[in-house]
Amino acid sequence: MLLKDKVAIVTGATGGIGRAVIHKLCSEGAKVAGLYRSQDIVAEEIQSELAEHGFETSFYKGSISDEAYIAQTFKSIKDKFGKIDILVNNAGITRDTFLAQMQIDEWKAVFETNFLGTYMCTQEVLPYLLESSNPSEGKYGRVINIISISGVLGREAQANYCASKGAVIGLTRLLSREYSDKGIYFNALAPGLIETEMIGHLPENKRNGMINSTNMKRMGKADEVAGAVLFLCSSLSDYCNNTVLKIDGGMLR
Ligand SMILES: NC(=O)c1ccc[n+]([C@@H]2O[C@H](COP(=O)([O-])OP(=O)(O)OC[C@H]3O[C@@H](n4cnc5c(N)ncnc54)[C@H](OP(=O)(O)O)[C@@H]3O)[C@@H](O)[C@H]2O)c1
Repeated sequence: MLLKDKVAIVTGATGGIGRAVIHKLCSEGAKVAGLYRSQDIVAEEIQSELAEHGFETSFYKGSISDEAYIAQTFKSIKDKFGKIDILVNNAGITRDTFLAQMQIDEWKAVFETNFLGTYMCTQEVLPYLLESSNPSEGKYGRVINIISISGVLGREAQANYCASKGAVIGLTRLLSREYSDKGIYFNALAPGLIETEMIGHLPENKRNGMINSTNMKRMGKADEVAGAVLFLCSSLSDYCNNTVLKIDGGMLR
């Protein structure tokens, strides 16, 4: 059990990747709080799957860019589970369109969730991680920011998304410097094309183009991303700090 007695928060819990991450962390002994924005039925479905396995979880509905909701929710999680060790900033949205047509509202929406939401959850969790983290006692805090290969390589029709994920790389780098000596490690994970609802709107030719630009000539699975998240959450990655780990089937462009 890689995460026995660890308490983790996963945002974007009702999405394809969030769901797989929660299953993976729970199966390694973590107690997990899942945050989601709107999909009540999916949240209930995931909670019953997890309960069937005897996993200890709690789900909370609200927007990660709502400061009051985040403060109250993180306090409730600490009260319920006694501590917080891990934050997986996974919630994210796209509003893809070519740059010339991209409206300011589409920039704001994407930055509000992908960057500000990530920042606010991180800011809120830090005091709890500091309480929990003490390297001399073998305790630790971990923050894993799910970015995207688009934020590393850039991709057409995704200027807002690429910039928001790139901004999260900057945040990861800064915070990993500041908190490393306190035993809190920040890393970013950059998935390529992963089979979830998020890519449902992609036209087939674009999807095929992206698949063909990978060495492996296929999309990734949410469970494969979850495996990499588990690595970054656990002591398997004790010497990983300030990393941007790509999980993209060897995407070449
Ligand atoms: N799928 C890919 O190919 C891919 C590739 C690279 C990176 N990523 C990144 O991986 C992460 C997860 O992606 P996914 O494919 O699992 O996406 P998804 O299936 O569309 O799920 C997105 C999740 O984020 C939640 N969410 C969105 N806005 C929110 C907000 N303001 N507050 C709280 N929760 C919010 C959604 O909640 P509700 O559904 O309940 O509203 C949902 O749980 C994202 O950060 C994405 O950018 C995905």
